[in-house]
Amino acid sequence: MCPREISAASLRVSLAVVALLLWMSAAASELKVLVRLSGGQITQEVLEADSERDIITLEFKQADGALITFLADFKRHVKILRALVLGEPERGQTQYQALCFITVLDHGEIIPSEAMVRLRQKNPHVVRTAEENRGVEQMSMNVPVNLTLSWQLSSHIHNVCRDARDFVYTRKDDIKHWLEKGVEGSIFEELPQKTEGPGLQSCSSTAGPWQPCMCSYTLRLEWYPCMLKYCRGHGSSPYKCGIRSCSKGYRFDFYTPHKQLCMRDEDG
Ligand SMILES: *[C@@H]1O[C@H](CO)[C@@H](O)[C@H](O)[C@H]1NC(C)=O
Repeated sequence: MCPREISAASLRVSLAVVALLLWMSAAASELKVLVRLSGGQITQEVLEADSERDIITLEFKQADGALITFLADFKRHVKILRALVLGEPERGQTQYQALCFITVLDHGEIIPSEAMVRLRQKNPHVVRTAEENRGVEQMSMNVPVNLTLSWQLSSHIHNVCRDARDFVYTRKDDIKHWLEKGVEGSIFEELPQKTEGPGLQSCSSTAGPWQPCMCSYTLRLEWYPCMLKYCRGHGSSPYKCGIRSCSKGYRFDFYTPHKQLCMRDEDG
């Protein structure tokens, strides 16, 4: 593409969309975007991408103070969602708790890292809201992952999840996928109790603070680039000219050995 075409394309898009994201070339990047949360508050989201390591990370603080980190490892098709949840010391909880949820990264969940490193925003003061709402996905996180062996799934898990220790979970279905890919079964641990069927109560309906129960935690990625947009020049083939933004919620249900450790259970 010649320089004149690029500037013409940029101009066309900037006229069409005020909150424009431009394309530049780089191997690694950091983008700070203002995002409106569902309660109306504004947060700053930091999006980092590295096309050589083939990862994207996204981090922001929720209105309740929880720090949310999302990491997409495209090389290993793994995604990590971590929440640093603030506790309520007046209820006998610790100051914060780290939760780490690891699942398979599906194709098309988020734009590729090589596209992400080229994103720049024209107007950093624009507060963004997603164009598409992808609802809430409910996930039963019923298998603990051994952090020491987690490099077999992705070398990033140990770093991102190290504070979560006993709360690093994945799903049964994902395990099947990974075992087929040759990951050793020893990385997945057994829970002391059956977590499916009528076995275990939710923490919100459990009375005793030292009872084991099923905790749930919901978070929402309010804004992330989920698709590439293509524009058409004069008779030329379509070219990438921007992104489509999405918002997606995740509800994680996971085992907790004591109700006391279940922070911010939205049912409670
Ligand atoms: C995790 O794996 C390591 C290395 O095999 C082992 O020593 C450790 O006991 C395991 N941790 C748990 C909680 O099973």
